[in-house]
Amino acid sequence: MLQNVNQFYSIAPMMGKTDSYFCFLMSLINNNITIYTEMMHSEAIIRTNILNDYKILKNFSNIKVQIAGNKPISMAKAAKKISELGFAEVNINCGCPSKNVIAGDFGLILLKNPWIVKDCVNAIKNETGLKVSVKTRIGIGTEYNDDLLNNFVSEINMSGVKKYIIHARNGILGKLSTKKNLSIPPLKYERVFKLKKKFSRNKIIINGGFLNTLDFKKYKNKVDGIMIGREAYKNPWIFAKNPITSQQRVALVIKYITKLKKLFTGKSINKNSITHLQNIFNSTDGAKNWRKAVNFSIHNNDLQYLLNYIKSS
Ligand SMILES: Cc1cc2nc3c(=O)[nH]c(=O)nc-3n(C[C@H](O)[C@H](O)[C@H](O)COP(=O)(O)O)c2cc1C
Repeated sequence: MLQNVNQFYSIAPMMGKTDSYFCFLMSLINNNITIYTEMMHSEAIIRTNILNDYKILKNFSNIKVQIAGNKPISMAKAAKKISELGFAEVNINCGCPSKNVIAGDFGLILLKNPWIVKDCVNAIKNETGLKVSVKTRIGIGTEYNDDLLNNFVSEINMSGVKKYIIHARNGILGKLSTKKNLSIPPLKYERVFKLKKKFSRNKIIINGGFLNTLDFKKYKNKVDGIMIGREAYKNPWIFAKNPITSQQRVALVIKYITKLKKLFTGKSINKNSITHLQNIFNSTDGAKNWRKAVNFSIHNNDLQYLLNYIKSS
């Protein structure tokens, strides 16, 4: 439960998870919580209407759009579109170790090329009034070398970036799958605390392995915030402001499904939007049957089934 520390916690960008629908679901649970969208490539933002899906939300002020890329002109054009829609912040992905991303020369490889990021930030700032933040890891490969991250932050600070989100583990390029790169190598929180000491004027947010929103007192003097990824998706209720009764949970889920029904009338249903509900009743008696109902609804494109199920149970 979050109580008064809303701004200390945020939800991590996750491909296939923190899309517009999940942001909407979270806004029903807590309309103040900061969420980073799944990574979107600058060219995709420029050439498609992916951002329009976010119009489902009433308020964009807590939604930070994560963009990927390495070309200042393209990043600036994408940022302009983001700004025109009403978002206030973009976050640049400098932490993704996936093969495709590295082949495209963006993501984690940018940790070694901070001047490229700096040029992108400058281009974004010339074109928009958006705040720009950066998400990266503590290092690359199996070596631990403080200089890499220190130089990265020093260089990018020159373009006026204030906030850095640091996934507290190295990323291994080439050898590990993207999934394994989320559990190997081990987390090193001390490295992030040290970064905060060195760059005390920057906002440093720690990420990796956090399972609840109860550690504010433990970490408040060491970092400026905690970002939670996988656990936020598994158990979104940890972001509720106050204790929520099971009746309130049911009412909230009904509201979400009703909104989806309206949104997808006459259109094909976005399956991810329903998948987000799979974990919503975890740790309750009916969790297993609920997951079955969600799966049925996904496979049959049938939101009414899910609505009837929840109303009758
Ligand atoms: C399914 C999935 C997708 C992810 N996609 C992104 C992404 O698009 N951009 C990004 O910066 N990090 C991405 N990440 C990494 C998370 O943002 C976060 O750094 C990582 O999961 C560690 O935090 P956690 O231990 O709280 O999950 C992803 C992680 C997962 C599990």
